[in-house]
Amino acid sequence: MAEAMIEFQSVTKTYQGGQPAVDDLTMSIDKGKITVFVGPSGCGKTTSLRMINRMVEPTSGTLTVDGRDVTSVPAAQLRRSMGYVMQSSGLMPHRSVLDNVATVPRLNGVSRAAARQRSRELLDVVGLDPDLGRRYPSQLSGGQQQRVGVARALAADPPVLLMDEPFSAVDPVVRDELQKELLRLQRDLAKTIVFVTHDIDEATVLGDKVAVFAGGGKLAQYATPEEILRAPANDFVASFVGRDRGFRHLAFSPSDGVTIHPVDTVRTGELDGPDRAAADRWQLVVDDGGRPLGWSAPGAGAAIVPGGSLFRKGETLRRALDAALSSPSGLGVAVDPDGRVAGVITAEEVLAVIEADRRLRQGVG
Ligand SMILES: Nc1ncnc2c1ncn2[C@@H]1O[C@H](COP(=O)(O)OP(=O)(O)O)[C@@H](O)[C@H]1O
Ligand SMILES: [Mg+2]
Repeated sequence: MAEAMIEFQSVTKTYQGGQPAVDDLTMSIDKGKITVFVGPSGCGKTTSLRMINRMVEPTSGTLTVDGRDVTSVPAAQLRRSMGYVMQSSGLMPHRSVLDNVATVPRLNGVSRAAARQRSRELLDVVGLDPDLGRRYPSQLSGGQQQRVGVARALAADPPVLLMDEPFSAVDPVVRDELQKELLRLQRDLAKTIVFVTHDIDEATVLGDKVAVFAGGGKLAQYATPEEILRAPANDFVASFVGRDRGFRHLAFSPSDGVTIHPVDTVRTGELDGPDRAAADRWQLVVDDGGRPLGWSAPGAGAAIVPGGSLFRKGETLRRALDAALSSPSGLGVAVDPDGRVAGVITAEEVLAVIEADRRLRQGVG
């Protein structure tokens, strides 16, 4: 039996008055292993992850890290003791890559010179040329930025690494590379990693153990990838797992039949405006060039929620489905070849095209 590092005991989170986002979660996360939370959008993965470092406080139940109740550790200290990597790299745009990586060591009192030296080493560890450290984040590709995000999370050498869909917004080839890199890193580092994804393939590739979440924040199954694939605990897990596996051919299917709908957008400069504050629906946040930056939730004012993977017009059905399933608004963002927003696609419609495609292949008519 592996030693437990993080334990959820009957943990429930209910945001103001709503249905539980996480419902009576009890699970034990192994020390030095990769545990993956997987499930469709909205099933409570991010909320569960964020309760570990107190970015979100549980409504009830107990959560311990290394035997200590997290509420007994000041939230800021707890947060600094764990690495955190998000879907958007979350790097500070006006600081060099080196200074971004050095942030937490500096907060912990390490000298600037020593922190920078360590940052250069870490860039090498995550497979980047240390000379890239002098650049600003915007001068790096998406995949490079995510590597910097990982380097930054590792900078204080934390025992626990929390990763929330860190590879969801990069293209499939880069995603494969980043997954391999993480597994290589983990062989040396043996951190306790909690990794969130909506992609069952990614979950089974990375996880020593996989927790499948269902709607309503319920844990549907928690087991090794082999066991989940071999013996799904119920119909939900079977369809979630089976769906993606049965969908492999989608990587070769065209997406011509998928309708792209108009979308309500808001520019970053308008986020503080009265219209946005009163808005009761999701709006897509775009930059001045019309490129997507993320979503603004109903009634959430100026906060931008990372947007899920993008679907470039003409890409495969697999990419279309991925975009729709990973989006916090439930709408996948479609972009033109130049990266400007073309509109949105819905998972329901993508699934309908997939179903029609399947019937055609099988001659079911
Ligand atoms: N800050 C928040 N305020 C209110 N509701 C939230 C907040 N964050 C998440 N939720 C809701 O909680 C549920 C679970 O969300 P989340 O944990 O983000 O799921 P996932 O990461 O699996 O997509 C969703 O219904 C979501 O709308
Ligand atoms: Mg999430």
